[in-house]
Amino acid sequence: MLDLKRQYRPLHRELLEAVGNVLETQQFILGEPVAAFERAAAERLGVAHAIGCSSGTDALWLALAAAGIGPGMAVVTTPFSFFASVSAILRAGATAILADIDPATFNLSPAAVDTVLKTPRGEAVKAILPVHLYGQCADWTSFARLGKEHGLKLIEDAAQAWGAEWQGVKAGGLGDAAAFSFYPTKNLSAAGDAGMVTTNSDEIAERARMLRQHGMRRRYYHDEIGWNTRMDGFQGAVLGVKLKYVDGWNQARRTVAKRYNALFRAAGLAEAGPYPVHGVVLPHEVPGSHHVWHQYVIRTSSRDQLREFLAARKIGSEIYYPVPLHQQEALKGLGYAESSFPEAERAAREVLALPIFPELREDEQQTVVAAIAEFLS
Ligand SMILES: Cc1ncc(COP(=O)(O)O)c(C=O)c1O
Repeated sequence: MLDLKRQYRPLHRELLEAVGNVLETQQFILGEPVAAFERAAAERLGVAHAIGCSSGTDALWLALAAAGIGPGMAVVTTPFSFFASVSAILRAGATAILADIDPATFNLSPAAVDTVLKTPRGEAVKAILPVHLYGQCADWTSFARLGKEHGLKLIEDAAQAWGAEWQGVKAGGLGDAAAFSFYPTKNLSAAGDAGMVTTNSDEIAERARMLRQHGMRRRYYHDEIGWNTRMDGFQGAVLGVKLKYVDGWNQARRTVAKRYNALFRAAGLAEAGPYPVHGVVLPHEVPGSHHVWHQYVIRTSSRDQLREFLAARKIGSEIYYPVPLHQQEALKGLGYAESSFPEAERAAREVLALPIFPELREDEQQTVVAAIAEFLS
């Protein structure tokens, strides 16, 4: 599914030197390695501020809290994402309201959000949190319009979308604030847990910096109850090295995705979609969006059997995500019935992520597609 060693081998000297510098300076928490990465990352994304923290989950919480989201408020998001998209809202003390997804992109549907916003609720909706799932931006033209119409903050879950763009603007600079994850499988990855908040707002940036250090502006003077969510120096150093290469890696991912598309079409397996019949529905890249292919996700009706068939041939695949968030045991308290979001529920039954990473070879992709062709025949 993913061979991280292929990325590591050519970089190992450079990474060891960067990590060695952290040991030399003994700056283990924040410090210059993190500050240097924050500056370079902000420049690369075209945003005013980047605030390094300890994970994507913490970045989501920090972005929400720094944007003023808290108790008595509600945030609208998707049921088809990693758990943290919802748990971070709850952690900020707010209520999570879900809306269904667009079956073509698997991203939060602006039409569904619009309907939710027109439905009266207990708590006042203060923000929308779209997730740029699989490396493709959510429909930001529509979310920007909805945000303006209803006076809402827009928080991006950009955990999977380093380098993705919506109409020329990079993920991280689309909303009021954004959260990135540098979990080791991400397009830009740390050597452990790490994350980052980005924003163009001086005020949100200042609050995020304060909240990531127990609400301190001055050492040992606590203005608010924050948390310890600082990025460590090793992660800053590793990310600083990898930042130089990530655009090339994303370009390579795009080549891999194009090659899968061509192989599936040549094998006569590609179906128009959005739902599969006998073959596979290929991922849809929206015109005007620049997809960075964190995942290459097909839809197929006999997904579980196909996955077993591939596993028997030592071909990795993964399901992101098998259980929509409203059906998770821990989120039963949100109060949604089992069948509240038909598109998310159907996607959870049909999606299958195939191996994709920058160094994946063409012959390996041919093997994957040939095995899927054999199964479907
Ligand atoms: C969409 C999404 N949101 C949030 C997160 C949380 O990031 P982390 O694992 O770095 O806490 C992830 C990563 O797993 C993710 O994929």
